[in-house]
Formats: sequence, C-alpha cells, structure tokens
Amino acid sequence: MNPVKAYHIIVAAGKGSRFGADLPKQFCLLDNKPVLMHTIERMRKSLPESEIVLVLNADHLSLWEELCRRYDFMSPRVVTGGSTRWESVKNAVDTIVLDPMLKSVITVHDGARPLINRPMIERIMTAACNASGAIPTVAVSDSLRMLDDDGVNSHPVDRQRLRAVQTPQAFDGMKLKQAYTLPYEPGFTDDASVMAAAGYTDITLVEGDPHNIKITLPDDLAIASLYLRNEPTKE
Ligand code: CTP
Ligand code: MG
Repeated sequence: MNPVKAYHIIVAAGKGSRFGADLPKQFCLLDNKPVLMHTIERMRKSLPESEIVLVLNADHLSLWEELCRRYDFMSPRVVTGGSTRWESVKNAVDTIVLDPMLKSVITVHDGARPLINRPMIERIMTAACNASGAIPTVAVSDSLRMLDDDGVNSHPVDRQRLRAVQTPQAFDGMKLKQAYTLPYEPGFTDDASVMAAAGYTDITLVEGDPHNIKITLPDDLAIASLYLRNEPTKE
C-alpha cells in the first residue's frame, strides 16, 4: 500500500458547561493527570509517527502552559478554537497543509474522550483508507422513542437500526478540507455530518468501544477511572 500521511486533530476548546466544574472537564484530573493529557498520550502511543494538532480555547492557553510545566508534558502544536465544535475543527483543518501527491488521512478526536485505544484507532485508520471516511459506532442498549412534532407524543424506534457515534473519526484529508470550506449548519454534531453535507456519504462504520466514553457529567470521571484500571493491556 502507498504511504499515508496522517494528521490527528484533538478538539479541546469546549467549556464543559454540562460538567459544571470551575475548570473545563478536559483539564480535570483523571487518576492524578488531566483528562486531556491521557487523551494525547494514548494517541501518541498508538500512532507515534503522526502529527497531532491540539485545539484549545483562547481563555485556556495559559492554564494549559502551566499544566504542561507542572506535569512535565510536551504539548502538541496548539491552534485556537471557536465557539462551536465545528469552528474549532475548522480552525485546525485550515492549518493543515496537504501534499497533493500523497494520500492523507485526517482524524478528529474529542479531547474529552481519554479512553481511546490502539485497536480502535487502527480499525478506523485502515477503514478510512478505503472510503471517504470511517467512524466508530456502538449499539444502543436503551429502548428508544422519537418525539412527534408536538414534542409531547412519541412513537417507538427500532434500536437495532440505530448506532451511537464516537470519535476518533478519520477522513480522506483532501475531502475533509473541502467539506470544511462549506458554511456551518446547526445539524453538524460531528465531522461525518460535515462530510455528508459536502456529498461524501461513503463513510464506513467501524466497531467502536463502549468504554470510549466522552466525559460529559461529573460521574463520568469515576466511570473512566474504573475503566482505566481494568484495561492494563489496552492502549
Ligand atoms: N469542543 C471544542 N470547541 C467547542 C466546543 C467543543 O473544541 N467550541 C470540544 C470539547 O472540548 C470536547 C469535544 O469538542 O472535547 C466534544 O464536545 P462536548 O463534549 O460538547 O464538550 P463541551 O462543549 O466542552 O461541553 P458542554 O457541551 O457540556 O459545554
Ligand atoms: Mg458541547
């Protein structure tokens, strides 16, 4: 196979409003280390040759510098994020210069998902080389209902046909860059939806990992800590 140049964007410019702590959740401690450092370390271990671009909120740049000093941590290249996740990804995508002669893959990962692991990244990278992109998904375990237009009545939905979508998501570099030149739409909740709006619908669904949770609410830190302790070989 021809060589593929890979770039990895980690978005961590959010404010963590649902988490509700003084510090945004990505800087909170998970087993004595900021969540975001777990995410970056595990990405580095999985793909040592690749370039990482870290997206941070302008308000948190000095906090991040201070954390890097305190934990003796070498930061990846930092790009300033925006007020939506879409804007944060776009700011990073716009700084990546691709060589048109080389096949490239750009992955986008939530800084708030520290439990990313090597097998999952490898599955996604492999699948992304054969399509416009690849995204990790997991089955939904709850029963589901769809609200009707009145927002009160509802009807059941077959959960067998639904998947929850995680990150990292990996895409053909040129196509992702092109997709991010289009205007923002409120339905963009992830990068695969940005690709779909640009007409790139051949996105391969890859098996995600139920442990690859996004830290969203305070209890998620305790859950992530438990998962971390139970996965000595998975990195
Ligand atoms: N993110 C970002 N820029 C934004 C919003 C979100 O880089 N303007 C990042 C977050 O830092 C996180 C990921 O996108 O790593 C997923 O977003 P989410 O879980 O919604 O994080 P927050 O937006 O920080 O949380 P909340 O929605 O509760 O405020
Ligand atoms: Mg958010």
